[in-house]
Order: sequence, then structure tokens, then C-alpha cells
Amino acid sequence: MAPKTCFFFLALVSFSSVLCLSPAFAKDDEQEKGDPGLVMNFYKETCPQAEDIIREQVKLLYKRHKNTAFSWLRNIFHDCAVQRCDASLLLDSTRRTLSEKETDRSFGLRNFRYIETIKEAVERECPGVVSCADILVLSARDGIVSLGGPYIPLKTGRRDGRRSRAEVVEQYLPDHNESISSVLDKFGAMGIDTPGVVALLGAHSVGRTHCVKLVHRLYPEVDPVLNPDHVPHMLKKCPDSIPDPKAVQYVRNDRGTPMVLDNNYYRNILDNKGLLIVDHQLAHDKRTKPFVKKMAKSQDYFFREFSRAITILSENNPLTGTKGEIRKQCNVANKLRSNNDEP
Ligand code: HEM
Ligand SMILES: *[C@@H]1O[C@H](CO)[C@@H](O)[C@H](O)[C@H]1NC(C)=O
Repeated sequence: MAPKTCFFFLALVSFSSVLCLSPAFAKDDEQEKGDPGLVMNFYKETCPQAEDIIREQVKLLYKRHKNTAFSWLRNIFHDCAVQRCDASLLLDSTRRTLSEKETDRSFGLRNFRYIETIKEAVERECPGVVSCADILVLSARDGIVSLGGPYIPLKTGRRDGRRSRAEVVEQYLPDHNESISSVLDKFGAMGIDTPGVVALLGAHSVGRTHCVKLVHRLYPEVDPVLNPDHVPHMLKKCPDSIPDPKAVQYVRNDRGTPMVLDNNYYRNILDNKGLLIVDHQLAHDKRTKPFVKKMAKSQDYFFREFSRAITILSENNPLTGTKGEIRKQCNVANKLRSNNDEP
């Protein structure tokens, strides 16, 4: 309630001051009493080994399947940017609703079963304590380290959402061909500024892009802005204008150092070797180009901005305190709710 209205109330009826202070007027998304929100090492009393277990599991999985680290990095974007970091990305569809991971924007997301491996290891030690939302964020942090990126201290205390809805995804996640204005707006809404956006896109220094997202740049004719030295490789990897759905056809995002999170991405996009239209435009839009050039020159600067932006992303609008739940299994909510009043 605005102070003015409060004052008005007070002038009218003196006992209404009780009303004005009443928590009944607290906004829905405000932190409740006794809720510390996100803090460093949230589980230090309730599950002191949690962060070590997650780190150990991320390392073991990385040894067996290097691409798990790509997934942990992509997950933090796909979960936290869609409304909030609440592990809604990990939920399976229900009979009623299609979940986020089933949408076109989620194409290519992989390794979900290994998130369950991490969760199971944590559950063995401390059942029902550590949220999937925190596991998702901490696995991203540790995955970034596996890929040669910076260690980014991140807070914990997120709780898990109960719902995942495919319909909202497009509103939050930019498409592969979206304009830089729209990309800056979408990230700006989370408090991530232009250098932050440029740094986050540096994640495309690892992993792959499937031909379905690329063929429109190759057929019926080759996009003239693509570096002609890069085109034969792309054509070889994506030989058909309509990719064979049975063959897994893709191009590596960074041919130079495909497994390392480094600033080679920025040199690639300045060299017109960016795979997605959005990658290409990042290097040519006048708002983002100065930062692309700076990151291409300095890995330190890239890492600093990347760490800052990942931190903001990881703190986007979390459920804390008694909101949400601690899922037993990351792909299903404990309580399947039919009403729409709670996330
Ligand atoms: C404008 C924003 C973005 C768009 C349009 C976008 C789009 C895409 C697309 C289309 C792919 C290829 C998926 C496939 O074919 O398998 C991809 C891959 C990837 N993206 Fe993004 N992305 C964006 C931002 C980000 C951010 C902010 C991060 C992380 C901080 C990220 C991390 C990744 C990673 C790691 C991969 C490789 C995944 C793998 O190999 O499994 N992306 N992205
Ligand atoms: C972007 O690509 C999608 C296909 O992935 C297409 O349907 C859409 O029309 C494209 N949008 C723009 C602005 O080119």
C-alpha cells in the first residue's frame, strides 16, 4: 500500500494504522519473515557436503561424457531466464501440460538423466534437503570450471517450482535469428546489461548446433555474410537442405577450441564464422561490437564479465523460504497441482 493511501486511511480511522502495518499488504513476491533468501553455502548446517558431492559428480560425469558440461552451462540459461531459476526446465510433461523441454527453443538439450545421477548422489547423503534448482545452478558453476572457464562463487537457497509450461518459453528465450534489440531487451529485463549479454553468448564457444538451425543460412543459397572459408565445412556437415531427422547432423560451435570455454568465440564471430544469425549480429551491431572486440582481445575481461552476468542470471527471481518445494526427483514435481496460483 502506498504511504499516501496509508496516511489517508490514518486520517480517516485511527485504528487503521494496524491495517497499514499488517503483513496482509505484503506483496506476493516479497521475502517472508525468517527467509534469508539466497546466501552463500545455504546448506552448511542442513547438508554440509552438498556442494562437494555436486562438484565430485560433475567431475566424474565430465570424465565419462565431456558434453555433460555443455549441458550444465546451457541449462542455467534455459532455466533461469524463463521466469526464474526453479528447475522448471527439468520437469517432464504431464498429462495436462507440455513442459519447457519439449519446445522448439529447447531443441538439442541433452543429458537430463545425468542431472538425476547428481541428485541421487545428494539424496543418498541428505534426503529431501537440496533443491534441483540449486543442483542445476551449482552443476553449471562446476561445469564451467571443467571447460576451463572461471570459478564463479554462487549463492544457494533456491527452491523448486511445481510447474513447467511450454507456452511461456518463447516470451523469455530469444530465437536463433532474433534481433539484437530484442535479445538486449530480454536479458535487460533480468538486469543483465550489454557487456553481460555479450559475455554470456561466449558460451557458444563450446558445444554444437544442429543443422536444422543452420540450413536456412546455406540453402537455397549461402548467406553472403558467412566467411567463404567456413562455408565448405558447414556444407559438408549439413549436406541437405532438409536435414535427415534420423541422422544427428551438427556443426561444432567453435572449430578451433570446441571443448574449451575461451574467448575464441569472439574472434570467430568477428571473422564471420558465427553459426547462428544472432552470433553473427552480435559482432556487427554497433551496441555490442565494441564489447565483442574487447573480449576477443582479453580473456580476462571476458571471464570477468561472464562471471558477473552468470551471477545475475543465477539469482533471477528465485523461489526461497517456504515457497515451492524440494523435489525428490528432478523430472517430476512432488505435488502435482491443478490450481494455477502457485508457481
Ligand atoms: C540469444 C541467446 C541465445 C540463443 C538464441 C541461443 C541458441 C542456441 C542454439 C540454437 C543452440 C544449438 C542447439 C542445438 O542445435 O543442439 C545453442 C547451443 C548452446 N547454447 Fe545457446 N543460445 C543463446 C544464449 C546462450 C546462453 C546465454 C548460454 C549460456 C550461458 C548458452 C549456452 C549454449 C551452449 C553451452 C550450447 C551448446 C549445447 C550442446 O552442445 O549441448 N546459449 N544455443
Ligand atoms: C526465424 O527462424 C524460424 C525458424 O526457426 C522462422 O520460422 C522465423 O520466421 C524466423 N524469423 C525471422 C525474423 O527471420
